[in-house]
Amino acid sequence: MTRTVEDVIAGYLPSAKGQQRTVAEAMNYSVLAGGKRIRPTMMKEAYKLFGGEGEEIEPFMAAIEMIHSYSLVHDDLPCMDNDELRRGKPTTWKHYGEAMAVLAGDGLLTMAFETAAKAFSLSRHPDRVGRCIGILARKAGLYGMLGGQSVDVEMTGNPLTREQLAFIYELKTSALLEACLMIGAVLAGADEEQVDVMERIASDIGNAFQIRDDVLDVISSEEELGKPIGSDAENKKTTFVTFEGLEGADMEVHRLTERALELISTLPGNKAFFNDFVRRLEKRRS
Ligand code: IPE
Ligand code: IPE
Ligand code: MG
Ligand code: MG
Ligand code: MG
Repeated sequence: MTRTVEDVIAGYLPSAKGQQRTVAEAMNYSVLAGGKRIRPTMMKEAYKLFGGEGEEIEPFMAAIEMIHSYSLVHDDLPCMDNDELRRGKPTTWKHYGEAMAVLAGDGLLTMAFETAAKAFSLSRHPDRVGRCIGILARKAGLYGMLGGQSVDVEMTGNPLTREQLAFIYELKTSALLEACLMIGAVLAGADEEQVDVMERIASDIGNAFQIRDDVLDVISSEEELGKPIGSDAENKKTTFVTFEGLEGADMEVHRLTERALELISTLPGNKAFFNDFVRRLEKRRS
């Protein structure tokens, strides 16, 4: 495991050739635009935490970033959040048109599973690989990110209860982070109880991450964030900030961060990475 996260991701992207090269180019455009890569990084560190040393984790690292990027490509579409800037560049639909952006998202989602399946030939534990593909699918789909996005879209412009907002955040944002920590743990051979703890840690990190995202949508700048600010207000979205204000949101991010740190302290191994990582996310500026 000496390759960087960036190299791992790039290594599994399609080459832009053949008659379908435009969609391949659009897929690469959205993934290679950058991004913080927190999901593959968390996955790799979870794997290492439980003693994982092989290359079997790499296809899953690329797969989760493909799924995350697809979710952003579709999230930015005019029929969804209608945003024109992502990762400091014009959004995929702005650059390639809406139809190609829809297809690029579909292409990334499908390629994620083709990529994850490559772990079978790198692993001595096909049972674990199979289970991880199941986790990836569930946390991305109806009971995960996609389910959350669907309620987000449906409720936009409508009054929302705290419970509905919590449901949306858990699914649209926490679910993919849960997949990361669970897959890292399962592939490295963690036991059931440990996998459950990883899921709970990621749930707290994800909720804190989304509330911080809402705060940054108000207080940050386009330059720092690489995406438009004020997007939520423009779309009349109810966010955590709508309910609790900026200060209340900060307090909730802090509470969730502390709870995640408490859970992290119960894990085996060297937790330095996760302790530091969770603290940095609490105050992130981008
Ligand atoms: C953005 O995720 C979408 C949310 C879940 C808030 P990131 O903030 O991780 O986006 P990138 O990958 O760094 O662009
Ligand atoms: C999270 O919500 C989006 C996804 C799960 C794709 P947002 O709509 O707030 O994310 P940003 O702010 O556009 O990155
Ligand atoms: Mg959205
Ligand atoms: Mg959005
Ligand atoms: Mg946002």
